[in-house]
Amino acid sequence: MSGTLYIIGTGPGDPQLLTLKAVSIIKSCPIIIAPHGSKKGNSTALAIVGEAVSLAGKTVIQLHFPMKKIRSGHEPAPEILTAWRYAAEEALRHLDQGLNVCFPTLGDPAIYSTGYYLYETICGIREDADVEFVPGVPAMSSCSAALASPICLGDEMVAVIPATFSDDRLREVLERFDTIILMKVHRVMDRLVELLKSTELMDRAVLVEKAGTSGERTCTELDKITEPPHYYSTIIVRKNPSSVRTLIN
Ligand SMILES: C[S@@+](CC[C@H](N)C(=O)[O-])C[C@H]1O[C@@H](n2cnc3c(N)ncnc32)[C@H](O)[C@@H]1O
Repeated sequence: MSGTLYIIGTGPGDPQLLTLKAVSIIKSCPIIIAPHGSKKGNSTALAIVGEAVSLAGKTVIQLHFPMKKIRSGHEPAPEILTAWRYAAEEALRHLDQGLNVCFPTLGDPAIYSTGYYLYETICGIREDADVEFVPGVPAMSSCSAALASPICLGDEMVAVIPATFSDDRLREVLERFDTIILMKVHRVMDRLVELLKSTELMDRAVLVEKAGTSGERTCTELDKITEPPHYYSTIIVRKNPSSVRTLIN
């Protein structure tokens, strides 16, 4: 009998945000395959897991997934396809021996995560592969908690987008939605500041870096940031200030 692949959301950094289900499945899996984005770096998802679960006695494999733009409906770069295929074959090699494999991924696997690319690749090779998803706390939820500010209330509409979109698409989203979650902001801060200024949303934007970790930092004056923030940074633009307090007072 073949094993099960568990694609597990680790939450954004604080090991206490791993779910009880995630911890119990990770404990039971003899094999961990963990993704890392930079060639020489280590897997953040694995580091989070390692703070909550002992990895002693487990086979831990870290695989590099190149961080390149992926656009829906377009074929990804060949090195990305190669990395997905390699990871899928590595997972299948263990699954075929009847071993359960866990693939931890930052935040929630449903949000801009390698987890679903791995899933699709595995299903392409083996249609009946046994794969289960375990949701995790998304980074944006941790950012919202850090700010003590909701993402949406009442009839508000939310957009979650990578800030690497074109200016036109970003502007459209900034104008149309009540709350906009901008992810992957670290390399495009200058462009974002200009867009936020031109849409008159500068005073509604807050950047949260490394939410839920000891390095957590929040910043409201985005035009005063001189150094690019860490890759683990998200900007929340919430147009509606809290109205309940004013109603009550
Ligand atoms: C590839 S996406 C992964 C998103 C993840 N699957 C989720 O559910 O949040 C990486 C982006 O998530 C955001 N991110 C991840 N961890 C974060 C953290 N601790 N604090 C703030 N933003 C974070 C950043 O915008 C980063 O560029």
